[in-house]
Amino acid sequence: MRWSLVPAACSLLLCSLWIGTRRGWASKAGIKESGEQLRYPPSKIAIIGAGIGGTSTAFFLRQKFGRDVLIDIFERGEVGGRLATVHLEGQEYEAGGSVIHPLNLHMKNFVKDLGLSVRSSQTKLTGIYNGEEFVFEESEWFIINIIKLIWRYGFSFLRMYMWVEDMMDKFMRIYRYQSFEYSFSTIESLLHALGGNDFTQKLNCTIDETMQKAGFSEKFISEIVTPAMRVNYGQSAKVNGFVGAVSLAGTDSGLWAVEGGNKLVCFGLLYSSKAQLILGTVTSIKEKTRPQRTGGILKMYEVSYQTASGTLSNLYDIIIIATPLNHGMSNIHFLDFSPPIETFQKNYHQTVATFIHGRINASFFGWQDGSDFNLADILTTGNSKLFLNSIGAVSPVKSTNDHTLKPASTSCIWKVFSPESLTEEQLQLLFTSYHSVIERKWLAYPQYNPPEKCPPIILHDRMYYVNAIERAASAMEMSAIAAKNVALLAHHHWYNKLDKIDQEDLNEKLKSEL
Ligand SMILES: Cc1cc2nc3c(=O)[nH]c(=O)nc-3n(C[C@H](O)[C@H](O)[C@H](O)COP(=O)(O)OP(=O)(O)OC[C@H]3O[C@@H](n4cnc5c(N)ncnc54)[C@H](O)[C@@H]3O)c2cc1C
Ligand SMILES: *[C@@H]1O[C@H](CO)[C@@H](O)[C@H](O)[C@H]1NC(C)=O
Ligand SMILES: *[C@@H]1O[C@H](CO)[C@@H](O)[C@H](O)[C@H]1NC(C)=O
Repeated sequence: MRWSLVPAACSLLLCSLWIGTRRGWASKAGIKESGEQLRYPPSKIAIIGAGIGGTSTAFFLRQKFGRDVLIDIFERGEVGGRLATVHLEGQEYEAGGSVIHPLNLHMKNFVKDLGLSVRSSQTKLTGIYNGEEFVFEESEWFIINIIKLIWRYGFSFLRMYMWVEDMMDKFMRIYRYQSFEYSFSTIESLLHALGGNDFTQKLNCTIDETMQKAGFSEKFISEIVTPAMRVNYGQSAKVNGFVGAVSLAGTDSGLWAVEGGNKLVCFGLLYSSKAQLILGTVTSIKEKTRPQRTGGILKMYEVSYQTASGTLSNLYDIIIIATPLNHGMSNIHFLDFSPPIETFQKNYHQTVATFIHGRINASFFGWQDGSDFNLADILTTGNSKLFLNSIGAVSPVKSTNDHTLKPASTSCIWKVFSPESLTEEQLQLLFTSYHSVIERKWLAYPQYNPPEKCPPIILHDRMYYVNAIERAASAMEMSAIAAKNVALLAHHHWYNKLDKIDQEDLNEKLKSEL
């Protein structure tokens, strides 16, 4: 068992932080400075953003720091953030993050702990359209699909499945590490602890390069891998290999969602964490030092925010940023930090989700006889003439008793993902007839463009950034994993438990622990 030293710079930083605040706290709390790291809990923690990242951080912080700490969570829009629904003809549909993988254990546990229930995704026949014809049409018969796939791609499908499963196995180590309270100070060290250099290098290559190196054909990549990237991330096979693999895992069976809407998880976590929700826009954060009556100094952060009733500010011991800090997104100003805390230049990718009640135009997809059109999920290859990334029939977030799957040729609710808003002409091409249309435009996920350098998780002494993980891959579960990591990291820093941070060879070490 090898234990590497915590990187010197990091431990120096932590030492000075520790010494800087310990005296103040020790005297304030009247604790004898013994060898034991006895320390009072922080009194106030702020979280900015009440999406799945922020609300799950509140949940894990409450577990770690106990019931006395005050947790404030700021939200300028709606609780849930990118988990949101749209209303159409009296029903609600998932407009943002919609499907969850069966092995996403944090999401699974939240649903269980919060007393929510699971809505399984309906099986729908998928077709892959290349702008001229379907390169693959799924049949209702499993065996026919297998024959078709082997005919066209050999055993690539099986190999892809095994390739993704191998990555998934390694990825799943995070749950064990986190249950033993291990945390990571950078995204790179987190990924390295899961899958070694193989994982960190995936951030610097495209999924296209990665899979070509692994022996997959160009045809397979353009007809199978690219459509998966387009439907999940609105981008091509030029995304980084890590998010690419996450996206391929999203083609597995057994995907699910939360009955009533995925955002219910955020409401549930907020409630059970007993955090105080403050509806307001955080505008700036600045560090404040306060002299103590007894001579020590106390370092805190001042958060300024705007609400309906004006501009206010509060002081906090610890700050968690749970919203992207990319240029033009959260607009939080970090005042007087040196070195400065900057916003990140890389952009977020725009994806437009449009919901349409209508009858799909099968001949738009080169289908002769519209009446036997049975595909309810159409993915697309990277043909530049296409104005859409995908179109699929969707069910409401509340299960109805009607489980009969209507043939796709009849009128139903469709969700289209596209890079730009759909024009009326485009809608008239896509549908033979339609009535209701509702659109939701997102800055949805990072524009992936390897090589990727992940932003820091530790922005300042006691200020942490949950959304740093999105540069590796954006998904609900990724936010929840990052949330738990940040809660553990904040706790270990506060109580100076450095042996729980950035340990190498955790997998080996934990093998011997039961
Ligand atoms: C169209 C679409 C489809 C997706 N599909 C899937 C999927 O199928 N499966 C999956 O796992 N993931 C999916 N994702 C990704 C997933 O939704 C996100 O990764 C996840 O929801 C991000 O959560 P978050 O809490 O980190 O960020 P957010 O949900 O963005 O939360 C940040 C919150 O901070 C608030 N905020 C921002 N600035 C301020 C400020 N200055 N002051 C106060 N509050 C502020 C925002 O209003 C927001 O509510 C999808 C995303 C989109 C957009
Ligand atoms: C990936 O590229 C970034 C930026 O070019 C670099 O800083 C980093 O060290 C590279 N990582 C690996 C594992 O090669
Ligand atoms: C359907 O698609 C075809 C082929 O793109 C197009 O010619 C036609 O105008 C579309 N609309 C209707 C209502 O058929």
